[in-house]
Amino acid sequence: MKVVVCANYDEVSVKAAQLVEAQILGNDHSVLGLATGSTPLGLYERLVEGVKLRGISYKNVCTINLDEYLGLDKGHPESYRTFMTENLFDKIDIVIGNTYIPDGTSDSAEECLRYEQVIDSVGPIDLQVLGIGRNGHIGFNEPGTDSNSLTHVVELVASTRESNARFFTSIDEVPTHAITTGIKSILKSKEIILLASGKDKAEAVRTLLNKDVTESFPASILWNHDNVTLIVDRDAYELVKS
Ligand code: PGA
Repeated sequence: MKVVVCANYDEVSVKAAQLVEAQILGNDHSVLGLATGSTPLGLYERLVEGVKLRGISYKNVCTINLDEYLGLDKGHPESYRTFMTENLFDKIDIVIGNTYIPDGTSDSAEECLRYEQVIDSVGPIDLQVLGIGRNGHIGFNEPGTDSNSLTHVVELVASTRESNARFFTSIDEVPTHAITTGIKSILKSKEIILLASGKDKAEAVRTLLNKDVTESFPASILWNHDNVTLIVDRDAYELVKS
């Protein structure tokens, strides 16, 4: 795992955007793996800027997102489809038919199988963007997830629902389940960038960089992949002993 320490969140976003744009400039038919959450928002702003200022085109790019809430319609304001539409897809020249996100309203067992086939047939993903949860989760793969897992349904742990409740009017409205690509699905990507920013991720970054590979800290399984770059700001890096 390569580690890039940046001064602040903005620099993390710039660095990540440089890697994404380099990927697209190298192959305009690239397949990107994308994440939701607060962390990639700055990256997405930079990518939008790249279309306007640097002439980057997503015309031939495909994207495959990590996860979606179960039970939320595509058009629900808090669905991850809506998040991606509002923060990225509507602002770049991507073809919406080339953007893949699990369908949270279909038969979930069939949807998991279908989505894994998307990863294999549209993919392999050239560059996967990941955030990290405070408990080390990647996608919705919470501690204890089988490292051989493919796309599956998860029951969200209380801390994840509480953390995501800020986007809903009350915690009761936060879905209890989600569809997530599995750890093995994520590891099929050719290259992975893991973004971490802020003091509340410092403990997770410290644990990750202990290199103790364990299913009880899902992000640590990324040590088994040979092309991962952690892009971290100083706040998230502050507990790492030099
Ligand atoms: P965040 O979420 O970017 O909103 O901190 C990351 C994650 O939980 O994977």
